[in-house]
Amino acid sequence: MANPTRWVTDTGPEHSQWYVDRFRRLAAEGADLAGEARLLDAMVPRHARVLDAGCGAGRVGAALHAQGHTVVGVDADPVLIEAAGIDHPGPRWLVGDLAELDLAAAGEPEPFDAAVLAGNVMAFVAPGTERRVLGRVAAHVRPDGAVVVGFGTDRGYRLTDFDADAVAAGLRLEHRFATWDLRPWRDDADFAVTVLRRPT
Ligand SMILES: C[S@@+](CC[C@H](N)C(=O)[O-])C[C@H]1O[C@@H](n2cnc3c(N)ncnc32)[C@H](O)[C@@H]1O
Repeated sequence: MANPTRWVTDTGPEHSQWYVDRFRRLAAEGADLAGEARLLDAMVPRHARVLDAGCGAGRVGAALHAQGHTVVGVDADPVLIEAAGIDHPGPRWLVGDLAELDLAAAGEPEPFDAAVLAGNVMAFVAPGTERRVLGRVAAHVRPDGAVVVGFGTDRGYRLTDFDADAVAAGLRLEHRFATWDLRPWRDDADFAVTVLRRPT
């Protein structure tokens, strides 16, 4: 990977396995880990193609797969991708850098109906690659497809920068909410869920 992600530089070497264990524990406890997937499911046709960009250990993509969608998940962290493959067979899980995303080269030439970047992915990409990441994700979504992005507003990536990066990546800002269950946006909200759309 050309630029190490903040997921690597801002956390310790045990962090990936800690994250895997945490989500396995939450799943075993019956926690609701599918809120983001429910929003995506409402936005796409049945049997859609969905890109889980920065999929981590696969909880969002797995929930979309369970709804009948075809899911490709990409993450830079091989520990998380290995866990996704073990815990959630069905989707295709790939190690890769979103800033260099080229899924046609990985045998996935068909565009996606939507992409989801859940769980602060945009706050964890390598500094300075945000615009490229959005551009590469946008390039994999069909015209009129959606890119849905959620991250904490106190995580160092300003929303004004995000909005400018999204426009530069060729995406249109369509909606903003404060939560994945669509609470209304407020300027002091600590989380932003943004629906971007690729123009037709
Ligand atoms: C907090 S985790 C969220 C994982 C998953 N989306 C979820 O919500 O469960 C953030 C993820 O973003 C991934 N990530 C950050 N920058 C990336 C990049 N440039 N390419 C691929 N994955 C990236 C990290 O490896 C990490 O797994």
